[in-house]
Amino acid sequence: MKRKVISTILAAVMAATTFMAVPAMAENDFADKKVGICMYTFADNFMTLYRTELERYLVEKGFDKANIQILDGNNDQATQSGQINNLISDKVDVLIINMVTPLTAEDVTDRAVEAGIPLVYINREPSEEEEARWAENNWDVTYVGADARQSGTMQGEIIVDLGLDTVDLNGNGKVDYVMIEGDPENVDAQFRTEFSIKALTDAGLEVNAIMDEIGMWDQTNGYSIANQALASNGADIEVIFCNNDAMALGALEAIEGAGRKVGEDIFLVGVDALVEALNDVIEGRMTGTVFNDHIAQAQGAADAAINYITGAGNEHYIGCDYVKATAENAADILALLTE
Ligand code: GAL
Repeated sequence: MKRKVISTILAAVMAATTFMAVPAMAENDFADKKVGICMYTFADNFMTLYRTELERYLVEKGFDKANIQILDGNNDQATQSGQINNLISDKVDVLIINMVTPLTAEDVTDRAVEAGIPLVYINREPSEEEEARWAENNWDVTYVGADARQSGTMQGEIIVDLGLDTVDLNGNGKVDYVMIEGDPENVDAQFRTEFSIKALTDAGLEVNAIMDEIGMWDQTNGYSIANQALASNGADIEVIFCNNDAMALGALEAIEGAGRKVGEDIFLVGVDALVEALNDVIEGRMTGTVFNDHIAQAQGAADAAINYITGAGNEHYIGCDYVKATAENAADILALLTE
């Protein structure tokens, strides 16, 4: 399948280029176009940044805010399926969907195709088989997102780069770690869990999982899991891997509450590069994170929607690279996000 890659904002700035060009069309041509957007939940730090940028950018491109419907799936697939039905009955011009359960994508695709409405999936990637159907049938359906394997690998590399001597605080020759996972049905959680550890073993390090728990991307859960891990196995924990920053921020609170100090007697990595996490990396309170470029992804999704509306069409997979964020470059990423 042909794949397209969009630049991260970092790469775009470094190359002094602008974002992917959208075919020329007068700004106002989109004013009467209706966009239906479904988010898996509004209660997710990263997806809140994403949705805010998505709406801002669509308005910048000439869509009327009143014609952009953004719906909260409340983390419930039945709720979201009802919302998708309503948007289809409403005859929106394009759908942008962040699935609650990507496993039900087939049914959603069928409904959109039958109604003749182009569809852009975001953030939660449908299965390979599902993506293959879009290409085989030449349907106006695409996925915009990042490959979570890369983010997991980068998390592992941040620890590998410290060297075993630094990380192996108890001197048992292994990296003793706790893993705090996002939603296990989501490939982002599956791949980050697998590939962060794979990066360690690929580098020849031995690993020991002290605890591996599901925190569902949530800060409070990140706190409770880390708190419990530190209370029961505290002394041996050398690294806490979190599938995202929200959970890492919770884990940091537990680490500091237990009187431990990141960078001295424990290491902590997340994914997303939330502003708060970047500040923690700069201050040395987090070892590192991985920038999940919500700006490039939101703009990429909106551009894909526009390309369907104008008839330009899209590849069936539009990818975006992650960027490793450590003390060395966290300030640069922060500057881009807060400028
Ligand atoms: C991931 C992100 C998480 C969470 C998840 C939702 O890409 O890193 O923080 O937002 O998407 O599907």
